[in-house]
Amino acid sequence: MSSHYPNAVSIFEVGPRDGLQNENAMISTSDKVRFINLLAKAGLRRIEAGSFVSARWVPQMANSHEVFAELKAKDGVVYSALTPNLHGLEAALNAGVHEVAVFGSASETFSQRNIHCSIEESLARFAPVVTRATEAGIKVRGYVSCVLGCPYEGDISPQVVAKVAEALIDMGCYEVALGDTIGTGTPVKTASMLEALLAKVPACRVAVHFHDTYGQALANILIALQHGISTIDTAAGGLGGCPYAQGASGNVATEDVLYMLHGMGIKTGVSLPAVMRASGFIATVIGRPINSKVSQALAIR
Ligand code: HMG
Ligand code: MG
Repeated sequence: MSSHYPNAVSIFEVGPRDGLQNENAMISTSDKVRFINLLAKAGLRRIEAGSFVSARWVPQMANSHEVFAELKAKDGVVYSALTPNLHGLEAALNAGVHEVAVFGSASETFSQRNIHCSIEESLARFAPVVTRATEAGIKVRGYVSCVLGCPYEGDISPQVVAKVAEALIDMGCYEVALGDTIGTGTPVKTASMLEALLAKVPACRVAVHFHDTYGQALANILIALQHGISTIDTAAGGLGGCPYAQGASGNVATEDVLYMLHGMGIKTGVSLPAVMRASGFIATVIGRPINSKVSQALAIR
């Protein structure tokens, strides 16, 4: 293995939230809980299990309270949720969530469409969420969306990405996840964005969150690994998309990332066949095949 790569990577599984938020069919609480339990059984230790947002905008997450209520604490497994404001945070705390995330954007238009406020207003809204969560002993993750392009504005300045990410870290987020929300990023563009970002935020506090719309996610992840980043967001079965980003397809599949990392000798602590069992289960629930090349290849053999 090249010394350029980390020995181990932390996989942050977002399928139950980012994946299922975009499904047309409503998924029952029991099916979500079974899916999450299968993911935990596979060795995933960080699982985004829901969000506390307006059911008017994202109806698929309306049963997040029930989902968290049914999840049994498991040694070392952190179940987290998105909380855009204090209203969402209070609901998350009541549901016994282990960790929360605020979600901002590097695009003004996406910020307005997604959370109905400007970037600056969003940061002002997140500050008390971080303070209150920290007081309650809950860690907060920060997302920056549209880091490599916006469905409304096109190109996004790496300097703006760096500024928003730094603001989230300064506010008290323990980690910032960089979202290529529409999956248009390519490797050289990813490297330029990361170089601007890493001038402000250390790699140990950065995660990457690629959607695989244009099939670029693995190439971009390799660039992130070469820049010292060792936390990767993935979704089992390549589930997902974003209701506010037309044409955005799923997150990079957990199976595909595991195959690449394990093939490079990088440890994850996650079992690929067991993730395939989880995504096989959710495929039967949503009624369509899994969007992972590795799952398809291994299923055929
Ligand atoms: P708003 O309309 O600006 O909020 O929504 P408001 O404060 O004016 O309140 C309006 C109504 O919403 C009120 O109810 C509030 O009580 C209620 P009413 O009085 O009309 O009956 N409300 C809430 N209800 C439930 N939970 C809450 C909450 N807050 C207010 N937390 C808000 C602002 C952010 C709530 C809204 O715009 C919203 O929920 N948007 C959905 C955002 C979302 O979930 N987007 C998808 C996730 S982001 C993503 O996928 C990208 C990511 O994966 C990274 C990447 O890929 O780049 C993270
Ligand atoms: Mg996403």
